[in-house]
Amino acid sequence: MLGRAMLARFGRGHMVEGVDLDQGDLGDAVVCRTLLEDARPGWVVNCAAWTAVDAAEEKRDEAMTANAVIPGNLVAACDAIGCGLTHISTDYVFDGKGAGFAEDSPRAPLSHYGRTKAVGEEAVEAMAGPWQIVRTSWLFGDGPVNFVKTIVRLLEQRPSLKVVDDQTGCPTYTEDLAAVVEFLVTSGSRGIFHATNAGSCTWYEFARAIAEGLGRDPRLISPCPSSEYPTAAVRPACSVLLSRQLEEAGCPPRPSWQDALARYLTLLASGRARFP
Ligand SMILES: NC(=O)c1ccc[n+]([C@@H]2O[C@H](COP(=O)([O-])OP(=O)(O)OC[C@H]3O[C@@H](n4cnc5c(N)ncnc54)[C@H](OP(=O)(O)O)[C@@H]3O)[C@@H](O)[C@H]2O)c1
Repeated sequence: MLGRAMLARFGRGHMVEGVDLDQGDLGDAVVCRTLLEDARPGWVVNCAAWTAVDAAEEKRDEAMTANAVIPGNLVAACDAIGCGLTHISTDYVFDGKGAGFAEDSPRAPLSHYGRTKAVGEEAVEAMAGPWQIVRTSWLFGDGPVNFVKTIVRLLEQRPSLKVVDDQTGCPTYTEDLAAVVEFLVTSGSRGIFHATNAGSCTWYEFARAIAEGLGRDPRLISPCPSSEYPTAAVRPACSVLLSRQLEEAGCPPRPSWQDALARYLTLLASGRARFP
């Protein structure tokens, strides 16, 4: 999902090449290095990941390979050819205790997914050449699956919905995140950055805003605690990412998540979405 938005964004003004599994398995160090030696990029942005948070509890090795081995392979390959790396990471490296997390807050993941992403971050921090870690959260955008599309579908199928109201985070549109990553890559900034749309909400509040955006009655959606919706992976109660380093780097303010949601709902309604 994010990779598509990155290709669209970087495709305007940069020479960019996307790599997915059919071009090569980045979990294989030799494949990874060969891909980079052939393409000779000036910079690499890693959006490849295992993102199925609950399935990661069972498919532990697969998740570790995608989220920790791939960044390690990319670090070695980027250092070998002398190019920089931007690695995308997640709010789920934090434990959710408190009101928000700064770039230097200690990593304390609650789930296997979060642990694999934390190991991936450590691999990138060991890179000799220039690196950036960009943590983001609650992504939605043109792609096969995301929370917005799930709520749209469920509102068509069911008379009412219950959505958890005790997890708070920052919904983020992939298009807006891609703009931040382009800023970071071209500005030569280094280190860890938190990049989300502005503002925060609970999943319940997000779902109500989706209903409202569709012109549906938001009262169709009622709040429930996470205990009523048990999942394999434990999720942080608060995963608000505070973005001090982006401000330090001079990044323009990000649009609110409400503004981003309105643009995405317009895209879905227009029939121009690649994944309607
Ligand atoms: N989605 C969210 O809400 C969210 C929140 C916070 C952070 N993030 C982070 O944002 C980044 C992008 O997330 P996303 O939602 O765009 O993920 P996504 O849609 O699941 O895309 C990940 C891509 O990585 C590919 N991939 C997996 N293993 C690979 C391998 N060995 N070699 C090459 N490609 C491989 C996947 O291919 P297949 O589809 O063929 O498996 C998929 O196309 C990730 O780092 C994720 O951790 C996401």
